[in-house]
Order: sequence, then structure tokens, then C-alpha cells
Amino acid sequence: MNKKTIRDVDVQGRRVFVRVDFNVPLDADGVITDDTRIQGAMPTIRYLLEHGAALVLASHLGRPKSGPEPKFSLAPTAKRLQELLPANQVIMAADCIGAEVEAQKQALQPGQVLVLENVRFYKGEQKGDMDFAAQLASQIDVYVDDAFGTAHRPDMSVAGVPQIMRAQGKPVVAGFLLEKEIEFLGSAVENPVRPFVAILGGAKVSDKINVIQNLLGKVDALLIGGGMANTFLKAQGYELGDSLVEEASVELAHSLMAQGGDILVLPVDVVVADAFAADANHKVVGADEVTAGWRVLDIGPATIAHYANYLAGAKTVVWNGPMGVFEFPAFAKGTFAIADVLAGLDATTIIGGGDSAAAVNDAGLAGKMTHISTGGGASLEYLEGKVLPGVAALDEK
Ligand code: 3PG
Repeated sequence: MNKKTIRDVDVQGRRVFVRVDFNVPLDADGVITDDTRIQGAMPTIRYLLEHGAALVLASHLGRPKSGPEPKFSLAPTAKRLQELLPANQVIMAADCIGAEVEAQKQALQPGQVLVLENVRFYKGEQKGDMDFAAQLASQIDVYVDDAFGTAHRPDMSVAGVPQIMRAQGKPVVAGFLLEKEIEFLGSAVENPVRPFVAILGGAKVSDKINVIQNLLGKVDALLIGGGMANTFLKAQGYELGDSLVEEASVELAHSLMAQGGDILVLPVDVVVADAFAADANHKVVGADEVTAGWRVLDIGPATIAHYANYLAGAKTVVWNGPMGVFEFPAFAKGTFAIADVLAGLDATTIIGGGDSAAAVNDAGLAGKMTHISTGGGASLEYLEGKVLPGVAALDEK
């Protein structure tokens, strides 16, 4: 990576602002149900503390609409952080800007961590308000971005604060998580060891058009599954019964197939159900045999075998989006079988965040993948070939 990281700056005795992505899932009682993103930021947090920094952590959580809402408080993440850092004091701020936070920043000692309250409690965070950014940047010596999951948002804590820091001649660098994400996703897309196979699933073609277009020019095979396969099958002239088909994207699917030729690979059989329900009646049929009253909810066994053949010799694999409705056990076989194939490969396997990361976790195979991205939207935009604001903001080496 040609961007500076925390290894390139002296943080001893300095107040370091770390933009993390602590947008973690919480249950109704406010208990964190998956702390992967907090764990992901720990190497950076530990390194900075061990090197004598005082840390000011900022993040968003959820999408609060109008000001502070207790259910979007970052307090549970500060509590979790304190459990992970018993030797360091973690202080939860009541706000992310203002007089009290200024005093807390002023008093902060090396080895201490001040967790700011949700930056999205202020509309300015997402409205380009540079006064808000200046308040976040106040008293800060070094800016660190370790929030890969939010790197695609041009928000003030991601792009605005770095702008102010740079104008003041202060460093803006990447944390270890951001560096790792960019290295894995970047080298897969820019410089993959071949054969390079991508697997794309999920509900909609329209969500992934740009990814497909960008990857078609780079991969040796692009395997399609999930609901979006239906739209391609429709474009191929097949009937899809009651399946989800994006009619508005059929034409586009047609042209992507023409552009992709043999590289774009579609299911040859599917699992159909008579309702969208966990206990629906279901059966395996050919991809060209779906009839009225039935809907496709998973790829079939012949497709799994077909895709496993493509994957067998692969050296780099990127996977984004499940192969079926894996939340229902009857329709999880395709997704879990692909996870299983990936787990057994002698290849670099990169899992895009969001649903595919959840599927690999549910399959109990997370430890067998080379890299599971902590960014859902961010990893997709990266695979589209876009420059992410959070990455663009960093100092060049
Ligand atoms: C995510 O969960 O993808 C990131 O935290 C970004 O959240 P957002 O989509 O609400 O900006």
C-alpha cells in the first residue's frame, strides 16, 4: 500500500484520533451480538497504547435520524473495549464534541482511551459540516483511520477531519485493519495469483452491476448465485415461475452475459420452493425447468459440483453474496457447500463482508478463510474499482 500507516508516525505522548467502525449489531437489551469489528480494530488500538499514545476513538452506530437516541449509543462498545483492555482505562464520553469532551481530551493521559459518543448524533457528520469536523479535530495530534467498513462514506469523521489535519500539517495515516483490508482486496483485484475466480450472489443484479463489470475484465471465471442468478436465467430465455426476477435488469443481464462470454457462469440446477418460508415444500429442478407456483431459493447439487470444478485449481477467490436463502436451513446447502469448497482450497480466499461473512461464520468456517472483510458496502465499492474517501484521505508514502 502506498499510504502511510501508524508504523510511519511517532505517537509517543500524543493525542491520537482513531476513526473505528464500531457499528456492531446489538440485541434488544443493547448487548453486542457480534464483536468482530471491535476485535478487528484491537491490533491498532493495542499498538498505539503500547507506543505511548492517548486515544480518542470515534465511530457511528446505526443510522440515527434526529439527534441522540439511547439505542444508538456507543456505550456498549466502550464496555466491551474495557473488557479487552483491562490494563487501560476506557472512558465513555457523553457526547462527541462540546465543552465537556474538550475537557476530557485535555485531561487524557497516555494509555487512556476516550470513546466519543456516536458521531451520527450530529447531522453535520453526513452533511459536510466542516465546523463539526473542526470540533472533532480539536486538540488532536495524529489522525488514524481504521474504519474500513465506513471508508466508502465521505463523512466528516472519515474525510473532513483528515482535511483539517492536513491543513495543519499533522499526520493522517491508516491503522492495521484498514491496511490489511486494502492489501487483500487490492492485491486480489489488481494483481491476483491466477486462476482468479469470483463468486457473486445476493438478491439483486442492480446492486452489483458495477462489481460485475469491473471484475469481468479481471477474473478467469465469475460464478453467479443467489436471487440475482434468476435475472440472468431469465435473460437466457428461461421461465422462472414465481421467483424473484428484476425485470428492469433483464436487458442489462443480457448484455453482461454477452460481454462476459464463457467467463460468466450460471447455475445449471436450482432448489425451488412453493413458498418463501423455512418449511416450504421444495425440490431440485433444472435451471430451465422452473414452473408456475415455484420459486428459486438456492442453487442445486449439480451447480455446486459445477462451481466446485471451477474453484478446484483457483489460486485467488473473492466471494460476495450468498448462493441462496441461507437463513432457512433447507435453502442453505448451496451457500454452505461453497463455503466448504473454499475452506479446502490451497488459495487466497477473500470474503466480502455483510451476508457472506455471516454465512461463513454460520458454517463454522471463518477460521479457514484467508481474509473476511469487515466492510459490506465498502468492500463492494472497492471491488467496483472505486476510490474510497477514507483511503483517498490518507497521507501518501
Ligand atoms: C456498515 O455497516 O456497512 C458500515 O458501518 C457503514 O454503515 P452505513 O451503511 O450506515 O454508512
